[in-house]
Amino acid sequence: MKTLIVGVGGMTNGGKSTLSKSLMQKIPNSCIVAQDAFFKDDSVVPVNENGFKQYDMLDALHMDAMMSQVNAWRTNPQAFLKEAGQNAGSTMSSPDHVFVLIVEGFLIFNHRPLNEMMDKRYFMEIPYVTCKERRSSRVYKPPDPPGYFDGHVWPMYLKNRQEMENTVTGIVFLDGLKSKEELLAAVYQDVCKNINMLGGNLAAY
Ligand SMILES: Nc1ncnc2c1ncn2[C@@H]1O[C@H](COP(=O)(O)OP(=O)(O)OP(=O)(O)O)[C@@H](O)[C@H]1O
Ligand SMILES: [Mg+2]
Repeated sequence: MKTLIVGVGGMTNGGKSTLSKSLMQKIPNSCIVAQDAFFKDDSVVPVNENGFKQYDMLDALHMDAMMSQVNAWRTNPQAFLKEAGQNAGSTMSSPDHVFVLIVEGFLIFNHRPLNEMMDKRYFMEIPYVTCKERRSSRVYKPPDPPGYFDGHVWPMYLKNRQEMENTVTGIVFLDGLKSKEELLAAVYQDVCKNINMLGGNLAAY
């Protein structure tokens, strides 16, 4: 059995979830593990001296639980796929078929054990103004309090990004200002190339 783990990282509102879902729809037998599903309960996330909840750091996430999910997929992608029920179009096929896991989230490359599992790494970036604009048009749970973007989200992004650049190599940076279609086409093509390199069954793609 052949497998490929694709990491879709990036800053908040870079377009990670949008791209990941579209990729999954195009790649048979693929599925997604999303980091957003692993935030700790609000009651245990600490508050800093400015009163901002410290969500944008690894400590705010149940990374062990996320690792367990990724490991469950690695152990048996077929069973995981069936249970996750995410990819309705999937068909179980030949032994040459490559199972693809898309791991998406804003801190996936900052967690060393998770980063080490990735076969491909993409990072979606957008300028500060676009990021702030996109973020303000969304409603998060819990909602961002006034000043949260400039007081917590953006400074933590800069810090986390610096840490990532100091420790991780092989990241393909993507311009999140490009259209959704253009981003999907580029990443899909690149993933197919990697599937091909594994000697995977491209006929199904
Ligand atoms: N290529 C794009 N061009 C324009 N808008 C986009 C693009 N990709 C995503 N968006 C929009 O930006 C917003 C954020 O997209 P998305 O939820 O995919 O980002 P994210 O990186 O997963 O964000 P989060 O930090 O909430 O996890 C959405 O409103 C989405 O429709
Ligand atoms: Mg998202």
